[in-house]
Formats: sequence, C-alpha cells, structure tokens
Amino acid sequence: MYAPEGDTSWFVRDRLGLFIHWGLYALPARHEWVKHREEIPDEKYQEYFQRFDPDLYCPERWAAAAAGAGMKYFVITTKHHEGFCLWDSALTDYKATNTPAGRDLLRPMVEAFREAGMRVGLYHSLIDWHHPDFPIDSIHPQRNHPDREKMNKGRDVRKYAEYLRGQVRELLTDFGKIDLLFFDFSYPADKTKPADWVGKGRKDWDSKKLLAMVRKLQPGILVNDRLDLQDVAGGWDYQTPEQFMVAAAPTDGGKPVVWETCHTLSGSWGYHRDETSWKSLGQILFLLIDTVSKGGNLIMNVGPTGRGEFDYRALTALEGMGEWLGRQGRSIYGCGAAPAGLTVPDGCRLTYNQETRRAYLHLFNWPLEHLYLPGWQGKVKYAQLLHDASETPIRDLPDWQAHHVALPKGTVVLNLPVVKPKVEVPVVEMFLK
Ligand code: GLC
Repeated sequence: MYAPEGDTSWFVRDRLGLFIHWGLYALPARHEWVKHREEIPDEKYQEYFQRFDPDLYCPERWAAAAAGAGMKYFVITTKHHEGFCLWDSALTDYKATNTPAGRDLLRPMVEAFREAGMRVGLYHSLIDWHHPDFPIDSIHPQRNHPDREKMNKGRDVRKYAEYLRGQVRELLTDFGKIDLLFFDFSYPADKTKPADWVGKGRKDWDSKKLLAMVRKLQPGILVNDRLDLQDVAGGWDYQTPEQFMVAAAPTDGGKPVVWETCHTLSGSWGYHRDETSWKSLGQILFLLIDTVSKGGNLIMNVGPTGRGEFDYRALTALEGMGEWLGRQGRSIYGCGAAPAGLTVPDGCRLTYNQETRRAYLHLFNWPLEHLYLPGWQGKVKYAQLLHDASETPIRDLPDWQAHHVALPKGTVVLNLPVVKPKVEVPVVEMFLK
C-alpha cells in the first residue's frame, strides 16, 4: 500500500541523478555479479580485496562530472552484494581501509558531492555474499557447492540482520544528512520462482524494524521499495523499475506513485571493460525525457574503474547530457506529466511545469515545417524553440485547411524551420494561457 513517509518534494523536482556502483568487482571488470556468475569462492575473491588500489580516485572530479551532466543527486553503493564496504565500518574488516586503498572512500565522496550542490543517496545491499552468517541460498555464489548443506550449518540470518541494522545505523549516523536510501533487494519465493527456491524477504532482513530505525535516524529520508514491504503503509516511498522504460506511469492500487527508473550506460552496473552495448546520447535523452513525461525520475549509472576513474565512454555520455541539459534543463527540472487532454503527435514527448504553466514539446522526429497539434486551440499564448528562444509562430489551422490535411477541427499549427537545429533533441517551449 502506498503511503510515503519520506520527503518526496525535492525528488520530484530534481528528476535526474547519478548512480555509482563501485566495489571490488571493478577489478575483474566483468559485471558486479561476477562472484555469483562464476561461483567464485571467498578465498579466490580475496585476490581483488588484496589488490584494490584506486590510486587515481578523486571524488571532486566525479562530483564535477555529475554536476556538469545536470545531475542533482547521487546514490553510491556503500556495500554491494559482494559484501565489501567502502567506509570504515566498525562491524567488519571487509572494508576499503584494509585494502591497499588504505582509507575510507565513502566520506570524501559524500563531502565532494555535497559540496557540488548535490543531494546524497546511499545504496546498501541487503544481500551479502561474504558475511559468515548469510545463508547460502538460491543466488549465493556457493549455491551449487557439493557441501552446501554442511557449509550452511550454524549460519544465522538473525545475526546477519543485526549486522545489517548496525551498518545502516553507522551510515545514517556518521555521514550527516542522508537524503535517500536504496536497499537492494528482496527475492522471496513466489509463483515466478522455482519450487525449490530459497530466497530472502522481510523476515530475513527484519524489514520493519530496519525501516523504523532508518526513519528515526534520518527523518524525511526517502526509502525505495525493495525491502519486501510493498503492501505495508509507509513501507516504501518510491518505486524503482530497473533497466526498462515504463509504458505508463506506475500506480499502486490505481493511485500514482513517486518513481525512479535506474539504467546503465552499457548493461552492467559495475565497471565492465569489454561491454560494447553503450547507449547513444540520443537513447539516453529519450530515456530521460520519456521518463519525465510520465512523471518519473531517471538515475543513470556509472561504474568507476579499479583505478578510481570514470571510464572515457561514461564521461562522453555525461558530457553529452550536460551539453543538452545546459540549454534544455527547463523542460526537465520541476517538470512532470502534462495535464490530460494535451496530446502530442507520434515521435514527440510532452513535459509540463505546473508552476510556470509552460509545456515542453520534445521532437524526436523533425517534421517538415509544420507541426500539427490537434485539440490545442485556445491553449497556447506563445511558443519558441527552447535552445535559442527563437519564436515558432503558432496559429489556428482554419477548418478548411484542417480538412485538406486530414486533421480534426481545433488543430493548432506550429511553424518550424525547415532545417533541424543542431540540438540532439530540439524542444518547443509553449506558454499556456
Ligand atoms: C539489481 C542488481 C544490481 C544493481 C541494482 C540496481 O538488483 O542486483 O547489481 O545494483 O539492481 O538497481
């Protein structure tokens, strides 16, 4: 049941964030699930722990790249499923301070991003493939080990849940104001899982207790929807569809919800050297614009390298986003879905700013001189291209002409230049009456 308790007001204005997945998996550089995929035992994975030495790490540079890309908040993996912690946790030795890095890597990052004006979000894995009390379940790297049963003896998920709470307490106590918490993830048995599925959910994490502590330590904090409390009032603040574009704005019990879709630039979240499926700037902008046109947020991910840098392909993407948002930001920040009744032609997406009463028409296909907007008569005062504030004359299409071009009465025509402006996605800004 959807009854958010966190402060969603900044979130629905900011619209664009940076996700960062950084951990030991940056070294194998072949997906952050490499330990699971290749069923790597702890002893072997330890190699990465002993070699983790991000000598070029400069969080100020990361923050500058994110701010330059137009991002307003960031979410960093404090610990991913592998169990490795970026901060100097008192509850484990499995942390950055004990690697060749030799220092807390989280604190300077939080400070640098805050300094750059960004809100702070922490990702924390509920799953832990390193902790000795975490049971070997159906997705654990050792799930196929012949001695699985024996290895599982003595593992106590309640002790693990305590550890989980203890670490979250540290994160929410020692790093100042935290705006958002992204827990990841629950996978209880359900009808989509095989019959012999051994998963985890609210009972294992003791989700209610964990969440109550979170809300007490950081009032107003936003919490995502992966604690397996979807049916609990106050159990989550926003929905997180992952790696796909939604067909329509998500709802819960028929009511709209706050939501954010998370995406990668190239497929995996952790640094993946050999991936070739990098999204083009056009695809990334389409994702962002389509998301905002449906009232959602986009969080775009970068997986920094083991040396502590953003890969050049990621930087190119961020620069492209920043270049576009630098002029077109007005169509994104503070915007959401347009009021019902304002429909747009194929290949367009409309966003709307309620405060300024401006509608933003994003053109993915450049039309030939005329853009027709059926049903818009009497609604627009003035229209211009957003990137250069050049007027796009607007007029009512006379009925006889509408008939000529097979359009309904009440259609408005926008006059556009014949040549598409040199903008990845041109936008028409319309001042509504
Ligand atoms: C998933 C994956 C993961 C990634 C995350 C981001 O659940 O397990 O590797 O961190 O989602 O949303």
